[in-house]
Amino acid sequence: MSDKFEKLNRLREEALLGGGQKKIDEQHAKGKLTARERIELLVDAGSFDEIDMFVKHRSSDFGLDKKKFLGDGVVTGFARIDGRPIALFSQDFTVFGGSLSEAHAEKICKIMDLALKTGIPIVGLNDSGGARIQEGVVSLGGYAEIFLRNTMASGVIPQISAVLGPCAGGAVYSPAITDFVFMVKNTSHMFVTGPNVVKTVTHEDVSFEDLGGAETHAAKSGVAHFAYDSEIEVFENIRKLLSFIPLNWKDKSPEKEFEMPSGEQGFNDDLTIPKLDDIIPDNPNKPYDMCEVISLLVDKGDFLEIHKNYAPNLIVGFARIGGISVGIVANQPAVMAGVLDINASSKGARFIRFCDSFNIPLLVLEDVPGFMPGTEQEWNGIIRHGAKLLFAFCEATVPKVTVITRKAYGGAYDVMNSKHIRGDFNYAWPTAEIAVMGPKGAVEVIFKRDIDSAEKPEERLNQLLNEFIEKFANPYIAAERGYIDSVIFPRETKLKLVNAFQLLKTKVDSNPKKKHNNIPL
Ligand code: HXC
Repeated sequence: MSDKFEKLNRLREEALLGGGQKKIDEQHAKGKLTARERIELLVDAGSFDEIDMFVKHRSSDFGLDKKKFLGDGVVTGFARIDGRPIALFSQDFTVFGGSLSEAHAEKICKIMDLALKTGIPIVGLNDSGGARIQEGVVSLGGYAEIFLRNTMASGVIPQISAVLGPCAGGAVYSPAITDFVFMVKNTSHMFVTGPNVVKTVTHEDVSFEDLGGAETHAAKSGVAHFAYDSEIEVFENIRKLLSFIPLNWKDKSPEKEFEMPSGEQGFNDDLTIPKLDDIIPDNPNKPYDMCEVISLLVDKGDFLEIHKNYAPNLIVGFARIGGISVGIVANQPAVMAGVLDINASSKGARFIRFCDSFNIPLLVLEDVPGFMPGTEQEWNGIIRHGAKLLFAFCEATVPKVTVITRKAYGGAYDVMNSKHIRGDFNYAWPTAEIAVMGPKGAVEVIFKRDIDSAEKPEERLNQLLNEFIEKFANPYIAAERGYIDSVIFPRETKLKLVNAFQLLKTKVDSNPKKKHNNIPL
């Protein structure tokens, strides 16, 4: 018996070494952690339960029959994060550069199937040279099996990808389908074709980092939702992200006990926040920072911003209000006056759809002058992309609350979770300006003749402008019709939100039955 136990011990030790100590040292020399070190840092201590430790590839071409490693380049299993279950896989670069063989793909598929059946999130730690070249089309088939499962799991369980090394060619499409992508500056790269192919095809000289590094994808392409300086920060923030979201589409996000706030956020005992009354500048064209509003409103100022560096004119992220996890979508007047452009629209739409898939209520903070004008935006499809944002808000059946802090002009008023598209509670601050268009543009259109024929056109324009502002640039016309449920002092906002989200916990709403919708892509 002891021999048999000894053998198991020996095999386990062999598997734990992956591609061997030399390869582990090389991995460390590149500033990267090993597959198993990563798991240890990500999950609750001692909670990792590995499966398929002894899987080997079945290939014999190119001398592969003499080169086999237990686990075949990916570590898979279950674990807990903050006591809640997850499934995970972690690619092991020390084995054939983490490349994906048939067996490697089968391991990932098995863990994905189990995650889907048990209704728990899947976290993938990617570090791979791509398709195992020696296995040819079998490896491509393996990728396709993973893509199919990513798609089937979409909207059923949360899927999180961390790209911690190379991720190239078609391999990028698995993380791309998942809900959130984390990258590490300088060590992770994602691209469909690398710098050499780019040089040949387009004659561009570009470095790995510029082409597909973390900052590129976090700021330019929007492929990455998060970019951090180190792997450790990636793991901390995956843990934080999971704390806001449910295990699956039927589950609810963990609710935290709401501690009545102390003085640090400027609260009074009755939940009023006097500081909020001072946020909006007297001059309606002056910017202010919506992040300040968010940090005052959310419990303990705790906010996980997503896509922070991409389309910063729209802020999205998770927070808690009165202990309830919510997704915040907020215009940022401090960046391009908070205008909605192509990138902001698709960023917002994808986030809203995640929240709606997973029962996470939405809070909209609105200060938007409209959609971005210009040929660049029109020719690249602001109509198509803006429609995504509108569609996402319209179809969402989760609790939806809007607070208009200042501007709500034109189509953007409708789009940003207005009453008409099923906003449950729509509040406006007294500083709100709700109208078809900004006062100057409006007056120049409807009073063009009047102004042109006036003796002093400039004076007449100003007179008409003041009349228009007085009459239309306020929240009361919308409130008269019930489009705004209540005009509130900014300081009352937290109280209103806590009450609204508590009340809406039992909200039930649905969409007509269909195969699936056809969101404008
Ligand atoms: C088999 C691979 C491999 C691969 C790396 N290795 N990539 N083995 N298939 N795809 C092996 C190397 O031979 C080496 O083995 C070990 O992994 C480490 O690789 P190095 O090159 O020494 O590491 P590094 O210098 O860090 O470079 C990493 C790399 C480079 C940038 C990823 O290895 C590379 O360019 N690999 C090829 C990438 C690629 O073209 N993949 C196919 C993409 S197309 P030894 O034994 O020497 O240690 C694709 C299609 C997917 O993936 C389609 C899905 C639809």
